[in-house]
Amino acid sequence: MRAPEPAVKFMLELKSIQKSFAGREVLHDISISVQKGEIVSILGPSGCGKTTLLNIILGLEAPTAGRIICDGEDITRVPMEKRGFNIVFQDYALFPNLTAYENIVYGLRNFPGRSSRAEVDELIGLLALEQHLDQRIDSLSGGQKQRVALARTLVMKPRLLLLDEPLSALDGLIKESIKDRIKTIARQFDLTTLIVTHDPEEALTLSDRVLIIESGRVAQFGTPSEIVHAPAGDFIRRFILKQLAIKRDNIFRLFSPEPGASTVGAAAA
Ligand SMILES: Nc1ncnc2c1ncn2[C@@H]1O[C@H](COP(=O)(O)OP(=O)(O)OP(=O)(O)O)[C@@H](O)[C@H]1O
Ligand SMILES: [Mg+2]
Repeated sequence: MRAPEPAVKFMLELKSIQKSFAGREVLHDISISVQKGEIVSILGPSGCGKTTLLNIILGLEAPTAGRIICDGEDITRVPMEKRGFNIVFQDYALFPNLTAYENIVYGLRNFPGRSSRAEVDELIGLLALEQHLDQRIDSLSGGQKQRVALARTLVMKPRLLLLDEPLSALDGLIKESIKDRIKTIARQFDLTTLIVTHDPEEALTLSDRVLIIESGRVAQFGTPSEIVHAPAGDFIRRFILKQLAIKRDNIFRLFSPEPGASTVGAAAA
């Protein structure tokens, strides 16, 4: 007889989360469980409820019904500042009058022991920010600001890292490099990470599991491979897989050696 599987311990559990604004229900019965160290993307079209769900987890909004459990403890009514979660907002919300380094260590003024000097230096290295520490925020590029915002959040060692559309303002190569850095840091610190995005490619290449929301309901919660190979319904096929297929076909066509397919293809052939 096989030994029983050890019970999975969930870091975060959402139980039948429901949210209404002025009597209009925008989240209906959202239930998911996230393991410690998992990277989970929250994916769905504009207005489906992604930011609302993130705000409820953070504690910025209260759910109309349902419960949030963290490490086995019901935190539904625990105020935001006592949850120990941290968020990187889409617009970074950095202090423009401070340097990159001053921004990174800002939160440690009130919690000086939270990260040692060596740990701060390690994060700066992981995010490749050594060259930019003395620069003022307004002299940094979008990708550099993004990395400063991540470093500033990570030095506080959050129990849960929340990112709202962290990559949407970044272009190709920078986006890929920051995706890699987020993955490396999440793995190295066993940091549970939730990332909001409306980009299927980003969600499926960055995360361990993806929560797809359609009009405030869970359309599917699964690994990238489950979503690609066993889509849970028409919405996933039409909105998620179709977008990926169009992108894939465009790229294949671009590099195809077929005559007339493209000048790049013809040149490479
Ligand atoms: N404070 C609020 N008061 C009333 N309605 C709200 C409020 N916040 C969000 N909503 C509504 O809830 C729904 C979900 O909004 P939410 O911001 O969560 O969407 P989203 O998935 O983050 O969209 P986007 O991709 O455009 O950021 C929308 O219909 C929005 O109009
Ligand atoms: Mg949003």
